[in-house]
This record gives sequence, structure tokens and C-alpha cells, in this order.
Amino acid sequence: MNTLLLDAANAAGCRQALALLRAGELVAVPTETVYGLAADARQAAAVAKIFAAKERPVSHPLIVHIAGSDALAAWADPVPEAARRLGAAFWPGPLTLLLHKAPQVNSTVTGGRDSIGLRVPDHPVLLALLRELGSGLAAPSANLHKQLSPTSAPQVLASLGGRIAAVLDGGSCRVGLESTIVDLTQEAPRILRSGPITRTQLEAALGAPILLPATHEVAVSGNMQVHYQPRAPLYVMTRTALAQYLTTHTTERLALLYYGAAPKELAQVKVLACLDMPTDKAGYARALYRNLYELDVLQPEAILLEQPPYTEEWLDVQDRLRKAATRLEGAL
Ligand code: TXA
Ligand code: MG
Repeated sequence: MNTLLLDAANAAGCRQALALLRAGELVAVPTETVYGLAADARQAAAVAKIFAAKERPVSHPLIVHIAGSDALAAWADPVPEAARRLGAAFWPGPLTLLLHKAPQVNSTVTGGRDSIGLRVPDHPVLLALLRELGSGLAAPSANLHKQLSPTSAPQVLASLGGRIAAVLDGGSCRVGLESTIVDLTQEAPRILRSGPITRTQLEAALGAPILLPATHEVAVSGNMQVHYQPRAPLYVMTRTALAQYLTTHTTERLALLYYGAAPKELAQVKVLACLDMPTDKAGYARALYRNLYELDVLQPEAILLEQPPYTEEWLDVQDRLRKAATRLEGAL
């Protein structure tokens, strides 16, 4: 299959994406978090293609993207007050709510479960597509199973080119990390995946406590031990451990990612590549997958990444690093 590259800034590109989605084809679409691999959620055969293209187990449920809170009742039953409140506070935005699915929703989307993940993405092109389509778009991250989530169209093509009908290129993703997932199917709301919206923000909007279990039994694929992985081994280290590693190993094939500016002594060491990460959380999140991807294509022997901070704001970054890392030095 020849994968088309469509321009989201161009009306003809958007129309073609819409026509392909209506025809039951797969189109990778930009969202504010990461690119999603989209199919019309009402077409079971189209949704089934997502699992095949990604090589994702069919039991791993997909998030359904909707145009607004008004559409909640078409997908979820009941729609609890908590969903209305959180939706009003954070949608469109990087928040996915897990609700009981409405009976008419095809269970191919939900991996056979009776719950459904719903999100209103904060991306004008995708919102316009959703409104035109008059349906929801099932869309997991647009990468092969277990690989890094893509934050640009070329990154999607590198992973799924030849397997999907088109990529709608909307440039780089503004947020860069996957949405926060909150489970509202039980008595007590709980976070299943940390994300850009923090527990403190969620609790303030809900006016009630939200659990943040360290582990839970819900088979969220992003909850598995190994996930979000670059091809090269990723070592997450303190700056001291990283310096030590460089003095005791051959360095020419190593790629480095520092938190902020690299130390001056590094000028003396020959490495394959070295990038500085932004030190503010939003900038770091936006750059993380992109930089990991850029280093990964150089086929380094390993990527050494300096640990970023641990405050609540950084929980999602720490979560993704823990799942991507082959080796950790220091607490994570
Ligand atoms: O930001 C995001 O959430 C991106 C963009 C494209 O919206 N999507 C994303 O999708 O990260 P994905 O499939 O890579 O991760 C969604 C996670 C998966 O781990 C999936 O298992 C979980 O959400 N999930 C979705 N529906 C679920 C359900 N009904 N029950 C339990 N987990 C669910
Ligand atoms: Mg994913």
C-alpha cells in the first residue's frame, strides 16, 4: 500500500482524509499529544485494521476521540456527573475518561470490554474532521506496538508507512506525551495513566479525591512493563552516573540526552550525538519522543539520558521513561 502524505493546512488534504475515513480506511491524524492512528469508530471492520496495522493485540482497547462533551451520551452510558465536570474543565485537552460503554458501541473498539475511553482532542483540524464525520475516531498512538509514540508525520511514516492509507501532516505535536487516563467506572475515580493533566488539577476541578495507584490490574497497554521503547537500549542515569559511564566505556557509538546544557568537560569526549533537553516540563515533554527518535535513527549502541526531576508535574515523564528504559541508575 502506498501511504499518502496529506497536508492538514490544505483543505483538499483534509477532505481526502475525511473521504478515506468514511470509506473505512486508516488515516494517521495529528492531536495535541501524539499522532493517532484513526478509523471511524462505528465501522468495526475499519477498527479491526488498526490492530492489524499496529500489530497490537485485539484485547487492548482503543481510545475514541469525539468532537465535544455533547457526544458523550452516544458512546457512554451512563454519563456520570464527574465526567461532565472533568470534561468541562479540561476538554478539548489531554484527558481520557474511562466510562461504561453504551450498548450500541461495537466491542471491537473496546477490546471486548464494557468500558470505553473517550477524549476530546485539542487540535482544530482533528476537531473539524470529527464534526464533519459525525462519528468518533478510534485512535491509538500511530506507532507499531510497544514503539515510541510519534510526534510528527515523518515519524509516523517511519513506523507505519506502507501499512495505512494516509498520514495527515499537522506538524509537530504541541504537548508531545500521551493523555492522562482517569477511570470513572468505579466508586472512586482513579488515574490509570499519568499524563499532562496532574492529579492536583483533576482533584481541584472535581472537588473530590482521585486515586493514583502505583500499580493496577487494568490491562492498559501503556501500563505494561515494557512500552514506548526506542530500538537502542535506553539508560536513564543521574548526571554523576552518566559521567562515570563515559569514563569507563568506549563512547563513539553512544548518544546522550542531558537535562539542560551538557557539562563542559564533554567537549573532550567523542560521542555519536548529544542533545540538551529543555528544563521546563512542557518543553521537555514536547521534545522527549522527538529527541529519542532522532537519536534512535542514528543507531547508537545505547542512549544515555540524564534523569529529569521528580515532582508531581513530572510524573508522566517519569512513567514513560521507566517503561522505555533498559536500565535505571538511581531512583525512578
Ligand atoms: O494522548 C493519547 O491518549 C493518544 C492520542 C492519539 O489520543 N492516544 C493513546 O492511545 O495514547 P494508546 O492506545 O496508545 O493508549 C491508550 C491507552 C491504552 O493503554 C489502552 O489500553 C487504554 O488507553 N484504554 C483505552 N480504552 C480502555 C478501556 N476501555 N479500558 C482500559 N484501558 C483502556
Ligand atoms: Mg500507544
